[in-house]
Amino acid sequence: MLAKIVTVVGARPQFIKAFPVCKALAQTGIEEFLVHTGQHYDAVMSQVFFSELKLPEPDLNLGVGSGPPGWQTSQMLTGLEKVLTEQRPDLVLVYGDTNSTLAGSLAALKMQLPLAHVEAGLRSFNRSMPEEHNRVLTDHAADLLFCPTPTAVDNLANEGITEGVHLVGDTMLDAVLAFVEQLGDASRLASGLGLEPEAYAVCTLHRPYNVDDPEVFRDILQAIGTSPLPVVFPVHPRTRARLEALGQDYSKRQPSLILTEPLGYLDMLALVRGSRLVLTDSGGLQKEAYFLGRPCLTIRPETEWLETLEDGWNTVLGSNGSGIHQAILNCRPAANSRRATKFGDGHASEKIVRILTGV
Ligand code: UD1
Repeated sequence: MLAKIVTVVGARPQFIKAFPVCKALAQTGIEEFLVHTGQHYDAVMSQVFFSELKLPEPDLNLGVGSGPPGWQTSQMLTGLEKVLTEQRPDLVLVYGDTNSTLAGSLAALKMQLPLAHVEAGLRSFNRSMPEEHNRVLTDHAADLLFCPTPTAVDNLANEGITEGVHLVGDTMLDAVLAFVEQLGDASRLASGLGLEPEAYAVCTLHRPYNVDDPEVFRDILQAIGTSPLPVVFPVHPRTRARLEALGQDYSKRQPSLILTEPLGYLDMLALVRGSRLVLTDSGGLQKEAYFLGRPCLTIRPETEWLETLEDGWNTVLGSNGSGIHQAILNCRPAANSRRATKFGDGHASEKIVRILTGV
């Protein structure tokens, strides 16, 4: 019987993926020791999610912060090894594909502790993405692999991983369903900006290949910034630094761009639900757009979330400015229906916990 778990989180999307599982775990006799690596540390990237989602405060924050990826991962690994030595859990639980995920996986492996991975089996088949390395390595180290979609199960089978694999659905769907009724009819933020429902787009960008090369970034910003729709753009800290490097006035010269600080979970969901269209290079936001019935244009060369492509809800565009601009012009308003069928039944977290309690 499993008595104690150490859960490792550290970056914004992991707080969202983890909170329904933490809630379900709290109903059991299993003790959960929550470690925050400190990968994300700004209040708007971290604390706001703990308050809104009512995630328990971390039992320990390693405070690693930002830095080169090898350094960042090694600092986390060092800190986690100490935690696991002190806590002696029966299992280590990790989420998604960030450097915090990989550090948690390596720490469990080195300490010879069982490892469970939530959101296992995702693949972009793009080895230039750090997330792809993190996923592949974590899945090959994990004893329990909780897959959100049948595609993820197939991806694992193609790599010879069939033991310990469970198709449970997506905990991000659980999260959206937990809050969707509370969002109200309109986005507070959109109406505060004078925007009518379904008369604006929402954009997020943070992938290095979109924002680190000034030419690529400028091309994308211009395509979005001259859109016929106003585009609300909550800016990730990494992207903010790149925007500043382009010159203070560059974004101000793009008439459709409305820049904001990064948003909390509820504001973001409400903003997306009220929008006409989502433009993003985030994995999570592609799914949230799909769950909330908003069309999505994905500013990446590929997606891990093939299910969102069905019926044209999501379109993979790449980073070319003229292609992005044309796709915005061609985008039709969507029927306001929630899309939930391909990511489980909204009870992925309970299924995960049931499997864990049976270990
Ligand atoms: C990380 C994940 C990515 C995930 C994203 C969600 C990896 C390899 N990448 O990318 O998969 O989609 O989180 O946001 O783990 N920064 C701050 N304050 C913060 C956090 C970051 O200012 O609270 C700045 C720093 O300048 C930092 C940069 O953002 O160097 C990038 O942060 P980092 O955690 O390295 O990666 P993300 O781009 O956030």
